[in-house]
Amino acid sequence: MSQQLFRNTKIYSPVDKGRPCSGMEQGELAHFLRGALLVEDGLIVAAGDEQEVLAVIKTAGETEEINCEGRCMVPGFVDPHTHMCFAALREAEFALRMQGTAYLEILRQGGGILSSVKAVAAASEQELYDNTLGRVMTALRLGTTSMEIKSGYGLDTENELKMLRVIGRVASDTPLDIVATFLGAHAVPERYKSDPDAFVTLLIDEMLPRVKEQGIARFCDVFCETGVFTIEQSRRLLKAAQAMGLGVKIHADEVNDLGGAGLAAELGACSADHLLAAGTANIQAMAQAGVVATLLPATAYSLRKNYARARLMIETNVPVALATDCNPGSSFTESMQFVIGLAVLNMHMTPAEALTGATLNSAYAINMADKVGSLDKGKQADFLLLDGDSPVILAYHAGATSVVDVYKKGQKI
Ligand code: NIG
Ligand code: FE
Repeated sequence: MSQQLFRNTKIYSPVDKGRPCSGMEQGELAHFLRGALLVEDGLIVAAGDEQEVLAVIKTAGETEEINCEGRCMVPGFVDPHTHMCFAALREAEFALRMQGTAYLEILRQGGGILSSVKAVAAASEQELYDNTLGRVMTALRLGTTSMEIKSGYGLDTENELKMLRVIGRVASDTPLDIVATFLGAHAVPERYKSDPDAFVTLLIDEMLPRVKEQGIARFCDVFCETGVFTIEQSRRLLKAAQAMGLGVKIHADEVNDLGGAGLAAELGACSADHLLAAGTANIQAMAQAGVVATLLPATAYSLRKNYARARLMIETNVPVALATDCNPGSSFTESMQFVIGLAVLNMHMTPAEALTGATLNSAYAINMADKVGSLDKGKQADFLLLDGDSPVILAYHAGATSVVDVYKKGQKI
């Protein structure tokens, strides 16, 4: 067995205790100022103080040594909420929004998500693949080593399955771990405007069974929002998805407080996402139910909305994860470092809380914490070397990348 020893590094990582970090634990990182990481077959054998890690090595001759030159090492970012599979950008719409037109108003007029639906229908599978691959590789260079990608710009069986196939191909052709989420309930297509319940029936009776039988998505998600899907429709869909064995997620209380956070608690969802407008009682219900809050500060930034109440959530013992929401409408960024910066500057999370949110808690948000999200023994050696002394650099150095090297399963990208 060939081993790699990464020496002379300052290690900072959340510690996996078998559950997402909440409350005080969200801000507690293990750190070793003269650290080392021992890797075998892409997995972590030991991480910690250099002298202790050296003691673990049995046959020194077979170990390749890599000098990290004192750089800071953190786990690779896990981005648990993206819409990276899309065919065209929406620059003109962004300009309109900056002049004051509301996001939901653009959708109501048939633009927004619905314009991305037209672009995906018009794109060949190869074009969609090339587009998606480009964005995923950008994210990888910026330090994202695992991510979730949603469908949701198909809105009919054929195009939803096309998107999920593309996500699957990108997953097998890139070094990242990528999980797919079925988001057929992303908007009500024009042809169902007068009878959205009939579209929910189509999702349940036709799309979900095909998704399930092809095994091409791990989660089902819904955009629960004014003018999109109601609480009742969301509940009906997600219960059907759970009955088929899929995990569930909700775009909850992004613009208006419909009670999506409460529904996530009621269903025991894996995560409730956005939560800009979530009410206090429903946040408490999420804590009780152990639902991860996936916060997307780049969306609040791009929509010029008030940020989610991360401090209240942490104080209420809700585990907070961070994600880009990368999509052509409400948040166009592949950068988890940008998201960490916003989380610290505008949601008042500490740099340590934000790092946990962007790694271990985000791994829990997509049920991947058994493999990724922290530098614990037995997990994949997915890590970043930073141009800084500590994870503080990620928030401090704005508009840039502090990621010098990206390693996935012990291999330098
Ligand atoms: O998470 N809210 C719904 N979905 C995305 C936006 C998708 C789009 O505008 O294309 C979001 O913000
Ligand atoms: Fe989203």
